[in-house]
Amino acid sequence: MPQLAYVDGRILPLREASVPVEDRGLQFADALYEVTAVMNGRLLDWDGHLARLRRGLAALAIDFPMSDAALGIAARNLVRRNGHRDALLYMQLSRGVARRDHVFPGAARASLVMTVRRFDFAQRVRQQRTGIAVITRPDDRWGRVEIKTTGLLPNVLAKQAAKAAGAFEAWLVTPDGVVREGGSTNAWIVAGGRLITHPLSPHILGGIARATLIRLAREAQIVVEERAFTLQEALAADEALLTSTTAPLLPVVTIDGRPVGSGTPGPMAARLAALVADEMERQTGWRG
Ligand SMILES: Cc1ncc(COP(=O)(O)O)c(C=O)c1O
Repeated sequence: MPQLAYVDGRILPLREASVPVEDRGLQFADALYEVTAVMNGRLLDWDGHLARLRRGLAALAIDFPMSDAALGIAARNLVRRNGHRDALLYMQLSRGVARRDHVFPGAARASLVMTVRRFDFAQRVRQQRTGIAVITRPDDRWGRVEIKTTGLLPNVLAKQAAKAAGAFEAWLVTPDGVVREGGSTNAWIVAGGRLITHPLSPHILGGIARATLIRLAREAQIVVEERAFTLQEALAADEALLTSTTAPLLPVVTIDGRPVGSGTPGPMAARLAALVADEMERQTGWRG
């Protein structure tokens, strides 16, 4: 079955799908995106992704006339036509196509493209048993990273550095030692039985997996503190973890080559992973 993409209302083979060279997403990263998990053919946490996309549209004053209902139908239709049970749905929404000029174009129409790529969530379940390594990098991104724009070059460079170091992720750290988040994941530590993660602010992306984990942990009577933590605290913590759509919950066992806690996945990570797995099953029927 050929891979199919959605481009402004049309579904066509991925290899034929394209955007014009004057798309503002291409020239200015004047575009938003979302990555949603497709598990068992169903979308996970769709409402959360939609709400974040709407917040981004408002923040950037992009006028996008498609209703939530129409967007949901288009997304689910593309997922169904691609036929993958486990996949990632990628949506990118730019301000549109216009002659290159920094200021907003008067007449451009927002442009939506979507792709669906197969994804192996079971590999993440395997990684939960071993844990993963992170390195640290300076957080040299702009000051509004809560808006999920396609301007990801600092994240790309940080994640490439992680890969070169044999690590899964790069944690982005401020000059005074605060761990903001990873290149494409939110960062957590466990200390004294409490779960700690950076508060929502313009300095982190409010992950959908982050919001889900906070909800599930609190429902399970686990204390969650949304507060800044330092690299020093992380190195002294009992456990560390990361979350995202593509890595729903992974134990971090080393930071810059130094062990966290016992240097192996800890009991809180296992407990949280079980809560996340139950939630995925509840929403989609998927079981790893
Ligand atoms: C910088 C950054 N932080 C956190 C996340 C996690 O967000 P989510 O849980 O919505 O996938 C992402 C996901 O792309 C990200 O790019």
